[in-house]
Amino acid sequence: MCLKIGPYSLSSRILLAPMAGITDAPYRQLCHQFGAGLTPAEMITSDPSLRNSKKTQQRLLQNTDQSPRCVQIVGTEPDKMAQAAEFNAKLGADIIDINMGCPAKKVCNKLAGSALMQDPSLVKKILTEVVKAVDIPVTLKMRTGWASNKKNAKQIAKIAEDAGITSIAIHGRTRNQAYTGYAEYETVRQVKQSVAIPVIANGDISSPEDAQFILNYTQVDALMLGRITQGQPWIFQAFNQQYSTSTKVKNHVKPITYKTKKNTILTHISAIHRHYGTDQGVRIARKHIGWYLFKLVGHKPNLLKRLKQEIFKISDADLQHHYLKNCLHNLEYTLSDSKDYYSSYE
Ligand SMILES: Cc1cc2nc3c(=O)[nH]c(=O)nc-3n(C[C@H](O)[C@H](O)[C@H](O)COP(=O)(O)O)c2cc1C
Repeated sequence: MCLKIGPYSLSSRILLAPMAGITDAPYRQLCHQFGAGLTPAEMITSDPSLRNSKKTQQRLLQNTDQSPRCVQIVGTEPDKMAQAAEFNAKLGADIIDINMGCPAKKVCNKLAGSALMQDPSLVKKILTEVVKAVDIPVTLKMRTGWASNKKNAKQIAKIAEDAGITSIAIHGRTRNQAYTGYAEYETVRQVKQSVAIPVIANGDISSPEDAQFILNYTQVDALMLGRITQGQPWIFQAFNQQYSTSTKVKNHVKPITYKTKKNTILTHISAIHRHYGTDQGVRIARKHIGWYLFKLVGHKPNLLKRLKQEIFKISDADLQHHYLKNCLHNLEYTLSDSKDYYSSYE
């Protein structure tokens, strides 16, 4: 079954979750390349006074972004949210996503992100204004509710459907949970049953087996992967092997080899240096390098610690890339000699 968002038929039902500070243009490009059906950008504030800030500029769509290009906006005032949607549509967004899932204090102090779920009438105004402002699909990302005794996802979903929202992604946690505990899928299942628009499940999906269970249990239209992709953006390929709607993709999926991982990591780091410039790029690259190394040698904590300590000291972009290249080269031999080679590397 193919997921359609407005006029866009997505190539896969496995989508990337928006993550501020992570799903920047280089990351989106990699995830798209490995088969993510949608690669939303990091949230952009609706505050027009911040439109020219360096942060907002870096978060705008780039020419590496592939259609459908989804931009997420966050804010609290209906007119500003509508203007932000218009602004991003003019810059080339194909889909506008509204953030009602973020629990971050900075956002919630202004009653934005998931805090908005506390105020259904404001939600209605924001969604209605944004849908009215643009002639492209508007989607919503939310949580199950505000707190465990205030799970109003079904109510918000109905408001969204009535306001003309095209699809809803739901993270199976409440705002109060932040990222603690586990995502639950009973509320997601109820939301799916209560609306006719596509529903996308999100939260703690870490394997194709989880995905199968959640799809069967909730009957949702698609799944969104967040933190599990960190340090392994190629994971979309493994999920797609089972869930792609396209038999063409299914038949062409090959295991990810160490060589592919190595080339992907190095390409990613170079793209980060280009996107942010070398100074900021080196700092941003460190977190991704940490995740990549963890995925490769997390089972050897001393080696992981030493490699991270060495590479995190480097502050020059070329040196960082060069060191990482050598490190990945050496790791291939270190790990290929060990019994972990097949489990970690293929
Ligand atoms: C570092 C980080 C940044 C995030 N930023 C956003 C964001 O900008 N917008 C949003 O809707 N959700 C954001 N999220 C939430 C994720 O999209 C997702 O809902 C959450 O991580 C649960 O999915 P997961 O268990 O697959 O990671 C963020 C999550 C993380 C970890």
